[in-house]
Amino acid sequence: MTVLVFLDPAYDDGRVADATQPQIMATDLGATRGDGIFESLLALNGEARKVQAHLDRLASSARALDLDLPPQEAWRRAIATALDEYTAGADVLPETELTVKLVVTRGVEGATTPTAWVQVAPVPEKTRRQRRDGLAVLLLDRGYDSTVAQRAPWLLMGAKTLSYAVNMAAVRYAQAHGADDVIFTSSDGKVLEGPTSTVLLARVRDGVKTLLTPQLESGILPGTSQSALFEVAKSAGWELGYGPLVPAELYDADGVWLISSIRLLAPVNSLDGQQLPTPPELTEELSALVAKIS
Ligand SMILES: Cc1ncc(COP(=O)(O)O)c(C=O)c1O
Repeated sequence: MTVLVFLDPAYDDGRVADATQPQIMATDLGATRGDGIFESLLALNGEARKVQAHLDRLASSARALDLDLPPQEAWRRAIATALDEYTAGADVLPETELTVKLVVTRGVEGATTPTAWVQVAPVPEKTRRQRRDGLAVLLLDRGYDSTVAQRAPWLLMGAKTLSYAVNMAAVRYAQAHGADDVIFTSSDGKVLEGPTSTVLLARVRDGVKTLLTPQLESGILPGTSQSALFEVAKSAGWELGYGPLVPAELYDADGVWLISSIRLLAPVNSLDGQQLPTPPELTEELSALVAKIS
């Protein structure tokens, strides 16, 4: 089941639409040019997580694209409507994990209002399985160097745009070569991010546990999950660090994970075919911290 709620000024709480029927115009610039932005949030027990962090990142993506956004309160009401509508479905268990997608496009060609909607659907079983079983990952060159974001803001490197065809092609490439997912590297050899996730690594030295992630200046999307995890991990006594990181540091790490809002923390079992020692105890410890994020 999929629920759609459009942000429509004529409806305070959003307009529920039939997800089995066409709902956007063929001339919508989101469809014809991928000109828009989105967010994906996890909802547990009918509650969306990290809503403010996602709304803040949506606003920052909108600024990068010069897009007008509906106000945050309108999003919150539309999210609530969509979750109510979903959980009112007859056979939905309260503990069903849901993906809540917020989408904004530049709107129909020639018009000046964006098209904006909330979409709620169950988290795919494959995503939940990867969280449990971990991932075989390939390192793939993204083709840009790690300073491109500053030099070329029109590439929209830190924005979550609808133009994810490249990201999805990278995942298909990995699957065609016997892997599950990807860690992009820059042309100057730095570790960047996954196509839909942030890279995390752990170092344990002389009893000191450090979590590291690539630095934002390398043109990656600021991960809301990584950021929230760093906050709770700090309170739990972890040291924190930011890149630049190179692939050798992934091989030398005491654990490597991909983290994102829907899949949460997925251990990387192998990198370019080489087994990594990511220990289940560290995955459990960090997953318990991730579970505290609300
Ligand atoms: C390119 C990219 N990097 C990182 C992330 C992780 O972000 P978050 O933790 O906010 O889901 C995502 C999420 O979809 C992503 O698409």
